[in-house]
Amino acid sequence: MAYIPEDKIEEIKDQLDIVNIISEYVDLKQSGNNYIGLCPFHNEKTPSFTVSSQKGIFHCFGCGEGGDTISFIMKKENLSYPEAIQFLADKLGIFIETGKVDKELYEHRKKLFAINNEAKLFFFHNLLTNQEPKKYIAERGLKKELINKFMIGYATDNFQDLLNYMVKKGYKIEDLLELGLVKKSRKNNSLYDAYRNRLIFPIIDSRKNIIGFGGRTLSNDRAKYINSPESLVYHKSNNVYGVMNLRNASKENKVILVEGYMDVISLSNYGIDYSVASLGTSLTIEQAKLISRYTKNVYICYDGDEAGINAAERALEIFRNINVSPNIVKIPDGLDPDDYLKKYGRDSFNQLLENSLNPILYKYNNLIDEYDLNDIDQKVVFLKKLTELLAEIESKLVRDEYINRFSDDLSIDKDNLQYEIDNYLNTKVKDIRTKKEVINNKSNDGYKKLLLESLRYIIFNPNISKDIIEVSNFLNEKTEFWTKALNIIEKIDYSSEESIKNQINNLNLEKNTKLIFDAVFKVKDYNYYLNEDNAKNYIKSMEKNKLIIERDILKAQFILLEDYDKLTDELKNVYNKLAMDIFKLDIDIKKMT
Ligand code: UTP
Ligand code: MN
Repeated sequence: MAYIPEDKIEEIKDQLDIVNIISEYVDLKQSGNNYIGLCPFHNEKTPSFTVSSQKGIFHCFGCGEGGDTISFIMKKENLSYPEAIQFLADKLGIFIETGKVDKELYEHRKKLFAINNEAKLFFFHNLLTNQEPKKYIAERGLKKELINKFMIGYATDNFQDLLNYMVKKGYKIEDLLELGLVKKSRKNNSLYDAYRNRLIFPIIDSRKNIIGFGGRTLSNDRAKYINSPESLVYHKSNNVYGVMNLRNASKENKVILVEGYMDVISLSNYGIDYSVASLGTSLTIEQAKLISRYTKNVYICYDGDEAGINAAERALEIFRNINVSPNIVKIPDGLDPDDYLKKYGRDSFNQLLENSLNPILYKYNNLIDEYDLNDIDQKVVFLKKLTELLAEIESKLVRDEYINRFSDDLSIDKDNLQYEIDNYLNTKVKDIRTKKEVINNKSNDGYKKLLLESLRYIIFNPNISKDIIEVSNFLNEKTEFWTKALNIIEKIDYSSEESIKNQINNLNLEKNTKLIFDAVFKVKDYNYYLNEDNAKNYIKSMEKNKLIIERDILKAQFILLEDYDKLTDELKNVYNKLAMDIFKLDIDIKKMT
């Protein structure tokens, strides 16, 4: 996030109306000079959350939470300080300038949002004035209110309805093309509406901008859904469908993650209005972060078909990466939430939610289903997978809990299971250690280059050989060759008639050593190494190189451990130490430039 100038922050603060902003989250009632409501930060039945309009602050007498508008947004939207400022600036329509390009982009974005908004109204109006989409909505059993809540619209079957409307409004065709609302025929370059005879679902972001559209065919078109392309305003991977539900999710402290537009809408139809859709089957980490800003109590409720089950497992890992442990809802018979609700009703769906499993139990059940435990070969694989599953549980306390439970369930010996897990964890640590060695060896190539260069200075410019040896000494531990080479160089007689090259050639060196010295002498101009400035610079760069190499090796080791959540306590310590060492080296390296 870019730096925000102090006067901008002041300007934003001046325009903030705390009651206005907080009202979006809390029902506030005036009481004397203040406003009161139910605290959004803890559970309470009688209001003790107080907002002072004059002072621009809030305070909860129940839980002690308090602050100004910015800290309220930081807490409620889970944003950093500059992010909260940006959030509020967007709300107020204040542009935070960070450069000319930004300003132009900002204006362009604003225009694209305006176009999308106009298109939304156009589609919405179409829906109200056409029978076909209304009939479809009724046939799917959706209540009329949902049209308003989700701003559902309709694109007619005509080729240029939206196009003509937008052009009349003065919008540019290139902008319509950029948003994917209009397309250009490859055959004759003619323009046509991208969405035709489709139900339209506007996609909205948390700042209430219309960022894109999904359109479901009403005529069995081969493409069931058409979605907005990526654009300046629409990034599929950063957004979810149903953002308007996230506030409820925060209030209810749970969110249901589904696959499709229709699932979100259908859930709302049954009074469950805290779901969002990841649109398509692969949840991204940005989407997971967005959702978990509102609640960490996530129910993954993907379709019950194979694609949905696989997607749920991927989503599980994504959430795991951000330390969220979601529940997985299994919908039977390959149904999606919408189908299931229609077939079995709300109570039965709630039962599914209640029966949802945490990641460990979910994976355990999958293993049980997958392997036939009466078959000895299968049981061996099963036990191996079970060991891995248990070993991945971070907390020893929780792990023990599951070890007890599963060993009872399977009638296997608890101590043996524990033994296998310990074994697994130990080999994992060893594994990482050997990988470290591989990395160390790989970086030898980098050392070789430095080694050659240092040897050249030492041989061609004996005046500075002492200094070079000193700054190059760290190569000592890294290459077995360094000391050997120095011994050989000591034998050089600079007063001799014979060239240095010949002297070394005559030394009857072993093959590898000879190869290295051959490389040392492969230079165009020896005088380069006699130049004092070059030598000085080289010494300086070696001091820095030493640290850079150290750091890069640590970094390579660090990457091996990247999956922090999956690490054992021992590896976590290694990880933390590495992080600290890299950090320190980074600082030292920066200081040198
Ligand atoms: P589904 O095929 O499960 O659709 O795709 P759905 O949501 O159940 O819709 P209905 O009930 O048939 O009307 C799930 C999601 O995958 C994306 C859409 O986001 C859809 O909601 N999708 C699916 C597409 O983007 N394009 C497609 O052609 C199909
Ligand atoms: Mn469906």
